[in-house]
Amino acid sequence: GIELGKLLASTGYITYDPGFVNTGSTSSAITYIDGDAGILRYRGYPIEQLAENSSFLEVSYLLIYGELPTQEQLEDFTQKINRHTLLHEDLKRFFDGFPRDAHPMPVLSSAVSALSTFYQDSLNPFDEPNVELSTVRLLAKVPTLAAYAYKKSVGQPFLYPDNSLGLVENFLRMTFGLPAEPYEVDPDIAKALDLLFILHADHEQNCSTSTVRLVGSSEANLFASISAGIMALFGPLHGGANSAVLEMLQGIKADGGDVAQFVNRVKNKEQGVRLMGFGHRVYKNYDPRAKIIKTTADQILNKLGVNDHLLDIAKTLEETALSDDYFVERKLYPNVDFYTGLIYRALGFPTKFFTVLFALGRLPGWIAHWREMIQDPATKIGRPRQIYTGEKQRDYLAISER
Ligand code: ACO
Repeated sequence: GIELGKLLASTGYITYDPGFVNTGSTSSAITYIDGDAGILRYRGYPIEQLAENSSFLEVSYLLIYGELPTQEQLEDFTQKINRHTLLHEDLKRFFDGFPRDAHPMPVLSSAVSALSTFYQDSLNPFDEPNVELSTVRLLAKVPTLAAYAYKKSVGQPFLYPDNSLGLVENFLRMTFGLPAEPYEVDPDIAKALDLLFILHADHEQNCSTSTVRLVGSSEANLFASISAGIMALFGPLHGGANSAVLEMLQGIKADGGDVAQFVNRVKNKEQGVRLMGFGHRVYKNYDPRAKIIKTTADQILNKLGVNDHLLDIAKTLEETALSDDYFVERKLYPNVDFYTGLIYRALGFPTKFFTVLFALGRLPGWIAHWREMIQDPATKIGRPRQIYTGEKQRDYLAISER
């Protein structure tokens, strides 16, 4: 395939492929997906096994370095990350400049972009120790930045990280804790969030990961590339879908809970009405992540004693869609985002914040792809071609003659 691609490029022909439906932009050894069979593997390990047995930090290590860590490697990795969770005090002041009701995704992206200005010592993409340092800085500081974006939106003071806690526990404490009150991390909540982060950690050449690679292909630094990836994830057709699903479910409830009526609006292709959390460019079968999340949603809501009518609406919606020819013919199944919002809501996160949680989960995948891209001798600057459809040539007209 790679050789054929090179040969075609040398002939001068251009492949017209809007949305890159059939274009391989790179080779990669990180994540394998078989969309027809509903298979997802990180570095060869089935997602089901990782979800059952692993932790988010271990999976991050696996994605970035290619192998599961030994006990010693994992301890070293954890310690390094714990040492870098603090932010420069000047960086904290950035948050003062944003409106209180700003969406946390652009706030997070701006803060990550600003890391390039604070850590100028680790920007060279070809200096391996510095890439390593940027990697650790990102994994350690993005949860702190995300928690501060939340604190800013609710008008509460920022908490310093407590490095005796694990990554997810620390993030939960910085998000929901208050300075004067002790905050006990609920182990069920921490476990649920850790699992969701594992399930989101990578998904090969999706829109945000391709963005990270494209920006990085110009040899832009890791912080700059990740900041762009966060903005690609913001869109409702990508990571923003998790918030959009919850808004859709709330809309159905507000309209009296008539699921069949909503499904009809989707089938009639009413402008702007899609079944959010359904469909996927690659999966033409049940998304394996959605399968795990559906079970988790039930368990977590039960454990937390949350009785959310929106979960019933979601299940009815799924049943209705899966037995309807419109969705069957188009192979539309629930994707990762269909049930996540309900869990995030039960854990206490506001709807606007859901996509930030996706970004926290996807971070190690973006880093792994950027590093693979920068080390690959076959990497060239990303520069797609086009089919020009404008005017052929015309002569300039003076403004008085137009
Ligand atoms: N609801 C209703 N119809 C849909 C949906 C949906 N969610 N998704 C696709 N379709 C229909 C399209 O209208 C089209 O029908 P047509 O052939 O009659 O025109 C057909 O299915 C194919 O859809 P495309 O838009 O061509 O599929 P594409 O691969 O470009 O889009 C996408 C994939 C963006 C994920 C789409 O399914 C979608 O918009 N889903 C809703 C948003 C969503 O959940 N996004 C999260 C994706 S997962 C992730 O990023 C983490």
